[in-house]
Amino acid sequence: MNTDHITEDLLPTKYQWTNALFPERLKSPWWIGHIPFAFELVGRMQPQTTVELGTYSGSSFAAFCQAVEATGGNGHVYGVDLWQGDVHMGRFEEELYQEMVQFCADRYPTIATLIRKNFNEAVHSFADGSIDLLHIDGTHTFEAVSNDFHTWLPKMSDQGVVLFHDINVTVENVGPAAEKFGVRTFFDSIKSTYPSGEFDHCFGLGVVAVGANVCANVIELIKESHDPETRRFFAAKGALVSIHFESLGIAPPQHGSYGETENEAHESSAALAELSSTPEPSVEMTNVVALRPTLWRRAINKLRALAA
Ligand SMILES: C[S@@+](CC[C@H](N)C(=O)[O-])C[C@H]1O[C@@H](n2cnc3c(N)ncnc32)[C@H](O)[C@@H]1O
Repeated sequence: MNTDHITEDLLPTKYQWTNALFPERLKSPWWIGHIPFAFELVGRMQPQTTVELGTYSGSSFAAFCQAVEATGGNGHVYGVDLWQGDVHMGRFEEELYQEMVQFCADRYPTIATLIRKNFNEAVHSFADGSIDLLHIDGTHTFEAVSNDFHTWLPKMSDQGVVLFHDINVTVENVGPAAEKFGVRTFFDSIKSTYPSGEFDHCFGLGVVAVGANVCANVIELIKESHDPETRRFFAAKGALVSIHFESLGIAPPQHGSYGETENEAHESSAALAELSSTPEPSVEMTNVVALRPTLWRRAINKLRALAA
């Protein structure tokens, strides 16, 4: 993305939370382009209870914690995950969870709580009408997202807002793996039922205000996502985060196979090793290669074509 226009487009007074905060924890590339919007949303909502379904290494979770802390209230953020992986991510190591536990204890001891359960079990830990902000970012098949939304909907408060990541996963941006993603279809099926908004960048973020009494300035923010200037603003702010992430040089995560053969997993590792020696992949490319081990080979070919 061309970010040359960013400085004249910052609209500093309009999106004060976006402009006041910069993410402290960036661990993976997929979601981080939405952190500027998340800051603004949390700043305006001042949610008492935020729940994330799918926390992984904590890039989105930490952004919610950071914004809740900045609001100065006594809000709490719950991250629900089995930390075992899924059909999209592959399988990951136990250290990932242990590192999250340590991070929460060190940085957000009074704000963050991790719940290591299946989403369908964890839902019983919350009272009906108690959750203000819900982020759905677990398994991304249509059936899973539909189940997560409908299972957790009764828990939403009258201020309730639900976020869906990955509404813009396509064959063009991730390859054949996109066929397993049903978030777009599910989001389209509910978005006209509620005040809703959406962003295309960073694999897409859908927003629905499910509560009957969501604050006017939050509804305004959600509706502004239909304005091309606003979309361009948040995409540009998100691109700055992604560019910063690239500059940190964090190695793309390596996950074990989740149904792949050992031979395929070996090929993926070899592709990863080759990728690490290839200079400066683009932000989009970093996103692509981080998605699934089977995409590494495809990414390598694209990088070769770009370099040629
Ligand atoms: C895409 S990742 C989350 C990414 C994260 N939000 C971030 O910003 O990096 C999805 C996570 O959801 C978890 N997950 C998927 N389905 C689950 C379920 N039914 N119960 C618990 N965890 C689940 C996976 O273990 C994985 O860590």
